[in-house]
Amino acid sequence: MTFSTPMTFNNLLVTQEGNTCLITINRADKLNALNIETLQEIKIAVEEANRNETVRIIFLTGAGDKAFAAGADIAEFADFTVEEGTKMAAGGHEVMNTIEQSAKPVIALVNGFALGGGCELAMACHIRIASENARFGQPEINLGLVPGYAGTQRLCQLVGKSKAIEMLITGDPVKANDALQLGLCTQVVPLAELKEAAQKLAAKLSGKSFTAMASILALVNACYAESTDGFELEIEAFGKRFQTPDFVEGTNAFLEKRAADFPGN
Ligand code: COA
Repeated sequence: MTFSTPMTFNNLLVTQEGNTCLITINRADKLNALNIETLQEIKIAVEEANRNETVRIIFLTGAGDKAFAAGADIAEFADFTVEEGTKMAAGGHEVMNTIEQSAKPVIALVNGFALGGGCELAMACHIRIASENARFGQPEINLGLVPGYAGTQRLCQLVGKSKAIEMLITGDPVKANDALQLGLCTQVVPLAELKEAAQKLAAKLSGKSFTAMASILALVNACYAESTDGFELEIEAFGKRFQTPDFVEGTNAFLEKRAADFPGN
């Protein structure tokens, strides 16, 4: 893939090809450990990709062939006070929520270790494609810590309470194929084929209605937000579709037995 480079960051490479934005955590020598600046940059990059009308799909990956992200940066937080630790977790939650609430799909390409904050970052994404060498885990217990970027919550949502508790209190990571069985990722491919798998998914998604997709992402999030009634929201969202050009095109295309060419509104 050849990408142009529209944005520059200290810890990320952010590039765009067609309607696809690729965010790469660029700290390979530290296994892409997530210091606070890196997390803030990820938030800015996702927000910017959402603002950019030419971007439809966002991929997130780690530089190198060893790690997606090996966790929060232990060297950075080793001396933190209670106040600093609390602030760090609150800031991390904001970043994860920004990703989860993105109106454009954010897809993690998990190219190795996704541990601690790296696993939490991957779990905040809408879909995870893993390479065969990927490892998912929450090893915070080994540091006398608990996950701080919503790992205790999203792991339960994805793999169920019992397996989540086992992973959280043993700290043991799971291999890519086990993650697939658990629903932690949707696909496992050889590392060398990860970009190709991303391109295939991007090509498939590119033909869809992006307004319907944004609505689906919001409705799925509502399923996990206790204060919102996702059932009611779905009824409302379904009705609203009938006034959209994408709906008119989609139904007309079906009835005329041709592929839909969604106008995107
Ligand atoms: N924070 C800060 N630095 C990290 C890091 C993290 N979470 N994970 C890895 N690194 C750094 C290492 O300190 C090392 O830096 P150095 O070369 O300057 O010493 C470099 O990345 C390579 O890591 P290394 O441990 O030598 O690689 P490895 O292949 O032997 O082991 C891991 C890989 C992932 C098993 C190991 O790095 C590890 O356990 N990392 C911490 C995982 C963790 O606990 N994450 C949760 C944090 S809350």
